[in-house]
Amino acid sequence: MPTTEIVPAPAIDLAHIRAQFPSLAQTVNGHPAAFLDGPGGTQVPQRVIDAMSNYLRHDNANTGGAYATSRNTDAMIAEARVAMADFLNCAADEIVFGPNMTSLTFMMSRAIGRDLGPGDEILVTRLDHDANVSPWLALEEKGVTIRWTEIHQEDCTLDVEDLAAKLNSKTKLVAIGYASNAVGTINPVKEIARLAHSVGALAYVDAVHYAPHGLIDVGDLDCDFLACSTYKFFGPHMGVLFGKREHLQRLRAYKVRPLTDAIPNRWEWGTLNHECIAGITACVDYLADLGSQGNPASRKGGEKWGTPGEAGSRRSAIVSAFELIHRHEHGLMNRLIEGLNEIPQLKLYGITDPSCFGWRCPTLAIRVRNQTADQTPLALASKLGEHGFFTWDGNYYALNLTERLDVEKSGGFLRIGLVHYNTVEEVDRLLAALKKIVGE
Ligand SMILES: Cc1ncc(COP(=O)(O)O)c(C=O)c1O
Repeated sequence: MPTTEIVPAPAIDLAHIRAQFPSLAQTVNGHPAAFLDGPGGTQVPQRVIDAMSNYLRHDNANTGGAYATSRNTDAMIAEARVAMADFLNCAADEIVFGPNMTSLTFMMSRAIGRDLGPGDEILVTRLDHDANVSPWLALEEKGVTIRWTEIHQEDCTLDVEDLAAKLNSKTKLVAIGYASNAVGTINPVKEIARLAHSVGALAYVDAVHYAPHGLIDVGDLDCDFLACSTYKFFGPHMGVLFGKREHLQRLRAYKVRPLTDAIPNRWEWGTLNHECIAGITACVDYLADLGSQGNPASRKGGEKWGTPGEAGSRRSAIVSAFELIHRHEHGLMNRLIEGLNEIPQLKLYGITDPSCFGWRCPTLAIRVRNQTADQTPLALASKLGEHGFFTWDGNYYALNLTERLDVEKSGGFLRIGLVHYNTVEEVDRLLAALKKIVGE
């Protein structure tokens, strides 16, 4: 089970949290804005904005120069690697920065694909975002066979038996999402990594959707790669890839000749987005400070984090943060699902059995049953948008899922995504607005 059980933990200090996010105070047509679009990208706390602008103001330079701002830039990037290593529980040289998860995954598929050809197989799923599908499908041009893991359509969970049955000695890689950005399903990633390894295949995990909701521990998962995007967990628009050191060293990177062969840098092409990287440390520290709110002694001297593994370490504060986040998010999710169940015109997709809620994120896909032309997901999202509710409509690139469920041609889903800065009041207002829109 991932970090999804309701654990006894103190409530989060929501007023303190929300005060740190300037954008949350916006209004639309006189209505307070309710940011229910976290799966598309979360808002950022002031410290992330400050870190990014301070970098540009004081240290803006390229890397590797023999002068102050360049050295500061090198140090800042090294710090951000350590922050992400704490976030994912790995070593700093296993952290690769890139523009976004999709680009990093295409980069890795090209590198992995260099050694693959006819007779090799890659297993993808019908549940995944296309960013963990198309980069592998691209290897069909090298003769690689792509196989598909099916889903249980009734609750949008992965058919793990089907996945296991499709593994064989030809399977070279299993591409798996940690959680679905469309319907919120959390996959048993640790078990799937174990199954992949049992036939000698690599496990490549897309943790983009899971990252704001649950603790990630790549050591425990024993996955070979895991990609995420900091803009989905309260940071800037950047992608981050964890790769086991042995793979980052062994695989042949496409790269320019002057670039070092050392890892992780040989996987980082050209000049990175330094100001965003400065924001990454701030976003990880935001989460760690959230986690240590019940234990102010966590940060030694109020400034430095303890060594990883210690009680006062940033990693242990991140662990606490996700306990708090989980408890708050699931409280909101349960309330929202109960309310949605009371609106008979609406159908909720994904896991609906409360005893299995540990296997879902608070990301809800809904549709109006027997929808009319003015009740499409786009129509709903537009009406909600006018009242300050920021939701999403369509397939959000989980194309294979919307096709499998036959909702693609009729507009996909309306997606409501909760994160820890959302409130009970927002949930109740949304339910009232939905009732009005569908005409109850
Ligand atoms: C589950 C999932 N995977 C991958 C991506 C792609 O991430 P990026 O925009 O960083 O390429 C997204 C973006 O929405 C996503 O939700």
